[in-house]
Amino acid sequence: MAQTVFAPWKDRDQKPLIEFRNVTKRFGDFTAIDNLSLNIYEREFFALLGPSGCGKTTMMRMLAGFESVTEGHIWLGGQDIISVPPNKRPVNMMFQSYALFPHLSIWDNIAFGLRRESKDKEMIGERVEEMLRLTRLTKFAKRKPHQISGGQRQRVALARSLAKAPKLLLLDEPLGALDKKLREETQFELMDIQETTGTTFVIVTHDQEEAMTVASRIAVMDEGRLVQVDTPDVIYEAPNSVYVADFIGDVNLIPGTARLRPAEPEPPVAAPTLAKDPAPVAEAPAPATETTAPPPTAQADAPADARQPAPNERGEWIYKKVFARFLGQRDLATPQLPPPSPGELAAARKAEADAERANTPTPDAARAPAPAAKPHGTETKSGGILIDWAEGQPPIIVANGDTALDGKPVTLSIRPEKVTIDLEKPDRPNVLPGKVIDIAYLGNISTYHVELASGRMVKAQMVNARRLSNRHITWEDAVWIGFTETAGVVLEE
Ligand SMILES: Nc1ncnc2c1ncn2[C@@H]1O[C@H](COP(=O)(O)OP(=O)(O)OP(=O)(O)O)[C@@H](O)[C@H]1O
Ligand SMILES: [Mg+2]
Repeated sequence: MAQTVFAPWKDRDQKPLIEFRNVTKRFGDFTAIDNLSLNIYEREFFALLGPSGCGKTTMMRMLAGFESVTEGHIWLGGQDIISVPPNKRPVNMMFQSYALFPHLSIWDNIAFGLRRESKDKEMIGERVEEMLRLTRLTKFAKRKPHQISGGQRQRVALARSLAKAPKLLLLDEPLGALDKKLREETQFELMDIQETTGTTFVIVTHDQEEAMTVASRIAVMDEGRLVQVDTPDVIYEAPNSVYVADFIGDVNLIPGTARLRPAEPEPPVAAPTLAKDPAPVAEAPAPATETTAPPPTAQADAPADARQPAPNERGEWIYKKVFARFLGQRDLATPQLPPPSPGELAAARKAEADAERANTPTPDAARAPAPAAKPHGTETKSGGILIDWAEGQPPIIVANGDTALDGKPVTLSIRPEKVTIDLEKPDRPNVLPGKVIDIAYLGNISTYHVELASGRMVKAQMVNARRLSNRHITWEDAVWIGFTETAGVVLEE
């Protein structure tokens, strides 16, 4: 069931439909758009996201031709359009504050643009009926705009802008007036319409969930500039800055200082075997020696995360096969190995990436050892960075952290749904004690606001699979929050 993924932006041979080339827009001495370059491809559903006043509407107005460009060029379908008047552009725009003709019926409002272009009454009639069906407005066709609700009026505006089947449709907050449920339904309708008509949509929204739902790609803007342009999943899972991480969704941001993670796994700071006593705070990291290996039971107790840094036979085998090449044979008598250099780690990572690309090692393959290639999933035993984030607190292990950040101030960005909360100390690579200060019950999930020993607040989320009465964590409880060593993203500011 191979399905081709729609990703024209990855294809060097694809020509973009829209190209902003070093576009600057100034109003007097105020710069609304600042030397911005952006490509949007045919059939994309492209979302512009950003705080109020960051320049989203200005971008759209320049595209539609209602606003001049101060510097730079805009290309549309291979043509420089900056001197093409709005009515000659194959673009339609649904404005943030759309206006319907109050004296015309809904039917006539939708037909208005078509009548100006064509005299073919039958064609116009068919098209209007189709648009009414598409936006579920058929039964309101005869009413005037003041006789329908705000949400319905918004759908009329949408039907009107789609009626002429533009090549490019610009939608500025098209669903702003709809209630949440209708809004969500309309989002899916919009996606359907976009797919069936093959129109390229550029949408402005202040609702990040909406952008995530409908868009093929999202551009996050700040003060007339693009901060990140990527697919929704990348924007969410791999934001390129604290700004983006904070703007999209709920996030924990933990500032600290990065340092290289020793090649030998540090003893799991919150070693699972010390677990049962939730006596809060710092168990100072013991030196990394073989003796820190947890007793065999730890393996059986920890099926949840096979990446738990717990040396065992397989770990030893992998070390000999893979890491020994870079780090030398391990001398058990003098266990402190020098940490690998960034170069060594980069080489190890490259080897791993190559192996992954060649599709050889899988976690299953690791169980039945095959020679040479480093099995996937073992990388967390070393490499990456540690983040010192609070006095007297164990560092946070970040296996996917860039070793080039060594010594730098960084911020760990971690989504609440990747943070677990437990009454018993869990067996996870990063475990921190705290106290429940607040619980936000959202029906399907609950968000726990946990104060750590350092005073920092961290949000953890739990899916409410059980009925309310069966849930066990409550206000003031001493709890453990936990997350894996790859759950967060390290951002440099
Ligand atoms: N005609 C104008 N004259 C002067 N300044 C303007 C003009 N139009 C827009 N601006 C300014 O340019 C900036 C960008 O405005 P724009 O309307 O593009 O913001 P936006 O991102 O669409 O915001 P919102 O989410 O509130 O709609 C704002 O600071 C705004 O005040
Ligand atoms: Mg706007």
